[in-house]
Amino acid sequence: MAAQNKGTILITGGGGFVGGQIIREALESGFSVRLTARSASSAARTVARFPAFASALSTAIVPDMTAPEAYESAFADGAAITHVVHAASPFNLAPRDNVRDLLDPAVRGATSVLEAALRYGGGKVKRVVATSSFAAVIDLSKGLREGYSYDEKDWNPVTWDEAAVAPGVVAYCASKALAERAMWDWMEEHKDEVSFGLATICPPWVFGPYAHELRDTKGLSESVQLLNGIIDGDAIPAFDFGGYADSREVAAAHVRALQVPEAEGKRFVVGQDFRYQAAVDIAREEEPELARRMPVGKMGEWIPAYHIDGSLATRVLGLKYGSLRDTVMDTYRQLLKAREAEVAAA
Ligand SMILES: NC(=O)c1ccc[n+]([C@@H]2O[C@H](COP(=O)([O-])OP(=O)(O)OC[C@H]3O[C@@H](n4cnc5c(N)ncnc54)[C@H](OP(=O)(O)O)[C@@H]3O)[C@@H](O)[C@H]2O)c1
Repeated sequence: MAAQNKGTILITGGGGFVGGQIIREALESGFSVRLTARSASSAARTVARFPAFASALSTAIVPDMTAPEAYESAFADGAAITHVVHAASPFNLAPRDNVRDLLDPAVRGATSVLEAALRYGGGKVKRVVATSSFAAVIDLSKGLREGYSYDEKDWNPVTWDEAAVAPGVVAYCASKALAERAMWDWMEEHKDEVSFGLATICPPWVFGPYAHELRDTKGLSESVQLLNGIIDGDAIPAFDFGGYADSREVAAAHVRALQVPEAEGKRFVVGQDFRYQAAVDIAREEEPELARRMPVGKMGEWIPAYHIDGSLATRVLGLKYGSLRDTVMDTYRQLLKAREAEVAAA
């Protein structure tokens, strides 16, 4: 194991799909990690996923991420936190109450972690990287927008009032846009007081494997569940977002954005163009079991729509994108194994 001498990253949301990959990437890159969780049992579950790095992992319980004071112990207890990754945010496309379930926790959670880094970080925090989303970039009202290229200049223009009464997907996208905007606004207001800069990562659907082995397919992240749901499904999902990123690339982007000096003050769209039909064509071609269990759809179809330009992450962070084939198959291999384990345990 490499020496963990690059500093200590406080990571929120490490129990989730994306956060787990960020923990793995951070540990493998030589950082120590302090992960926050809402309960001791959930913190212990996450730590147990990284047995080779037990000595480099510590935990802090943050019962309410919308309260800056809840982070006090996370910044204390001996570990000098040098970096922060904020990946926690409610990822729920069917909220019962848009404000309570999405907007409020996302936006207040985003500024609270910054406030906590200022208040309790002792001037030692150098960079904060937040997991935003392509949801904060896309203007959903413009539809498929063929010929348009989305990049970091673009902002989802939805307002809080519109989002409060919008359908779940629109409200989720708004929660990401409003949370990211709130972070940039907070940074502007506190620029003379903080020791750290901010960078944000804006991926579209994140696919690819979890950092740990899955024992079942319960509680999957919304994006992984989309691919899982195509197995034994009736139809290929309709076009929703025309982009994807691999979970390992998203993690690498976060950890590089913590370190690359030029990343400070920037948002990064991390991803490539995507269509469900292309993923299904690959899965059916590569894996006979999936060929039997997936709808065929319209093989080879590529619905014309906007392009996602993730090239700034390559230029500034040195991020290299892999192939859709590898991402799709690594996702499905892990899901098929999890389904087998589920059957064996039943
Ligand atoms: N997956 C994608 O396609 C995708 C794409 C773009 C951006 N993102 C962003 O990536 C981040 C992680 O998403 P994911 O796919 O990894 O989803 P996930 O597996 O559902 O993980 C979400 C994480 O956020 C934490 N969280 C949610 N609400 C919280 C709250 N109110 N207080 C404290 N923690 C809370 C969860 O904690 P518990 O474990 O305690 O529930 C979990 O660790 C989110 O910010 C999401 O918006 C995801």
